[in-house]
Amino acid sequence: MIPAVMPTYARYNLTFDHGEGANLWDTENRRYLDFAAGIAVAGLGHCHPHLVEAIRKQAGKLMHTSNLYHIPGQTLLAERLVANTFADAVFFNNSGGEAVEMGIKMMRRYHWSKGDPARYRVITVQGAFHGRSLACIAAGKQEKLMTGFGPEVDGFDQVAFDNLNELKAAIGPETAGILVEPVQGEGGIRSMSVDYLKSLRAIADEFGILLMFDEVQCGVGRTGKFYAHEWAGITPDIMASAKGLGGGFPIGATLATERVAETMTAGSHGTTYGGNPLAVAAGNAVLDVVLAPEFLENVAKVSVEFMDGLKKLVAAYPDQLEDCRGKGLMVGLKCKVTNGDLVNKAIDHGLLSVPAGDNVVRFVPPMVVTSADVAEALEKLDAALNDLKNEGA
Ligand SMILES: Cc1ncc(COP(=O)(O)O)c(C=O)c1O
Repeated sequence: MIPAVMPTYARYNLTFDHGEGANLWDTENRRYLDFAAGIAVAGLGHCHPHLVEAIRKQAGKLMHTSNLYHIPGQTLLAERLVANTFADAVFFNNSGGEAVEMGIKMMRRYHWSKGDPARYRVITVQGAFHGRSLACIAAGKQEKLMTGFGPEVDGFDQVAFDNLNELKAAIGPETAGILVEPVQGEGGIRSMSVDYLKSLRAIADEFGILLMFDEVQCGVGRTGKFYAHEWAGITPDIMASAKGLGGGFPIGATLATERVAETMTAGSHGTTYGGNPLAVAAGNAVLDVVLAPEFLENVAKVSVEFMDGLKKLVAAYPDQLEDCRGKGLMVGLKCKVTNGDLVNKAIDHGLLSVPAGDNVVRFVPPMVVTSADVAEALEKLDAALNDLKNEGA
């Protein structure tokens, strides 16, 4: 008989009861070091007191009203995002997929409003993951996500990763814009180089098309900057944010410059829950923490320690590991063994990580991890790799 919860997830045999900081405890009270953070969501760690208190306070006051009415916390969160990013305006939704989907709509709307509705196609890059709505799976073009869900939504052209010639060649009179993750997450922690990102900006300007970044996974401090594209010193026209923005409370945001955002007139888009008082209380509490200078300083410090340790493991286990890569606390270990086997062995040693594409084990820990947490994670990984080595893997 089918379980009551639809069988869309292949879950680990783990059930967690509570958490604190970078630690989770299962229902048998066994402790795990959480370097998965709910897939790059719990950026402040579990049960961060400031976030818990903000949610508790708002829940006891007012959870939801509707976007029929003014929501002061929403205005505040939008103004803070505007003040700290390239954007002039923000639309709040509830998830990464929704944030991306709206950005895609805005690309079309922008060209429509300029009198050029023929420009509706979006160029994406191989290895991309943009979410699971019909448009998002068509944008990502991953076979396993699209199977059985045809016909494919029209309007997406995919080119090779890091190949500007192919990208330029794909631009035609129907192209509306380019959509990329500055650091691919699901695709296997693949960072786009500063030069590549700069070239994307230049190409978008040259051809009069829009540049959109999907920073759902790599944003909100994860790479050591508030948003990852800041490393390249360029700005997009549109950006999707989610995951870390709520620290565990579901929230998404689509950010844009004025020339794009002004085309989204009243009634052109909407959502029941997006930016409700409870969600934006969480978002504002997250920003209180992330925007404090010591937060990104910690990411910079511990990420170097983590990467140095991973490099040593790569050298120590040449038959099991190929390479380590990433930016800040968005890190991948490219494996020679099957990545899922290493994730499972690490679980045996009390460390959580996430498999990603390209046979990578991904680490996206809470950004409040300490040097001691990093040292413990490296020890556990060492033990897991040693087990695999002894088993002849
Ligand atoms: C880069 C990126 N975009 C979009 C999404 C979709 O976000 P959500 O699962 O919240 O819809 C994800 C989720 O992993 C992501 O990593």
